[in-house]
This record gives sequence, C-alpha cells and structure tokens, in this order.
Amino acid sequence: MSSEAMPGPIDGDRRSALISTCAIGGVGAVAGATPFVLSFQPSERARAAGAPVEADIGSIAPGEMKTFEWQGKPVWVLHRTPEMLESIKRTDDRVADPNSQRTAYPTPPYAKNEYRSIKPEYLVVVGICSHLGCSPKGPFAAGTNPQLGNDQGFVCPCHGSTFDLAGRVFKNKPAPDNLAVPPYKFVSDAVVMIGDDSKA
Ligand code: FES
Repeated sequence: MSSEAMPGPIDGDRRSALISTCAIGGVGAVAGATPFVLSFQPSERARAAGAPVEADIGSIAPGEMKTFEWQGKPVWVLHRTPEMLESIKRTDDRVADPNSQRTAYPTPPYAKNEYRSIKPEYLVVVGICSHLGCSPKGPFAAGTNPQLGNDQGFVCPCHGSTFDLAGRVFKNKPAPDNLAVPPYKFVSDAVVMIGDDSKA
C-alpha cells in the first residue's frame, strides 16, 4: 500500500488547485478555486457545476486509491483490503462519530454502516477536511505516520486531524465531522457514478 494518496485522473496542476484550500482555509477556498474553475472548457464547467462523474474503479488495485474530480472537489475511491477493513473495527471506540449520526455533512443512508460505503471494499469520500477545508494525506499504513501511530488512515496536515480508513475523524481533533460521503452508485462492478444516487 502506498503511504500517499495515489495520483488519479487529476493531473498535478489541477490537483494542486483543488487542494489550494489547505493553505488558505475554508473561507478563502472559494477565491482560491476561482481561477481553476474559470479555466475549464464548457463541458468541464458543467461538470464543475455538479454533473455526475463516471469513475472507472476497475483498475484500482487492492490497497490503492484514486482521486476523481466532482463539483471541483477531490473524491477519493480507496479499494480496501480485508486487512484494511479489520483496521476499521479496531477504531470504533476512538472515533468521534462511529455511526455517522452527525448532520453537518449528512451521510447517505446507504453509507450509514460500519464501513461507510455501499460495498465494504470501496470507500468513496470527499477528500476535504471538515475543519477548514484542507485535503488530508494518505492512506497511511500502520506505523508509518506518527500522528496515526499504529492506526491506518488519513492525516490532515493543516491542524492535525486524523481519520480512519472509513473517513471517520478520531476523537479530540479539530475536525468536527467525518469526511463527507458524496451521493454515488455502482453502475457496474467497475464503474461508480459520483454525484448521482438515483435508482435506475
Ligand atoms: S483543515 Fe484543520 S485539521 Fe484539517
């Protein structure tokens, strides 16, 4: 498993723009993102405005993660191994909202379960910290990040919030909520539609 988020379909410059929120915080995020949005071609503008995005997840190897872009935000798809799923069970009593009951970033009903996902092996979350809008780093394996210690998960570099592999924030961290789960659905075993959870 990599120690950093794997590069996805977003190229380096555009991803930098996406995560520019990290340096300037939540309020500045809108201004920071503006040049990025304006540089879109018309079809890209429509996507940024909220059109669903089809994500090819078939090529994501177990243990790896890809980042897709939806509404100008990074959306992570992490292909969790059985061992990663086990690690989530071990954090239940140390995360702030284990059952995703908080409402600031409502979790869709189909992700209100232990793994916060439709299929246990695929985590789909918006990769933006619920504190001030930075993009956390990860996933980190156990013992590879001092802030996580023996846990696996993500670390927000701005003020140190940590999240497990279900995107659940650990207790006593600045971030008030878990990472948001966007609306999504499986179109096939290998394709996820991000931004659309309507029934066929
Ligand atoms: S933005 Fe402050 S901890 Fe993530």
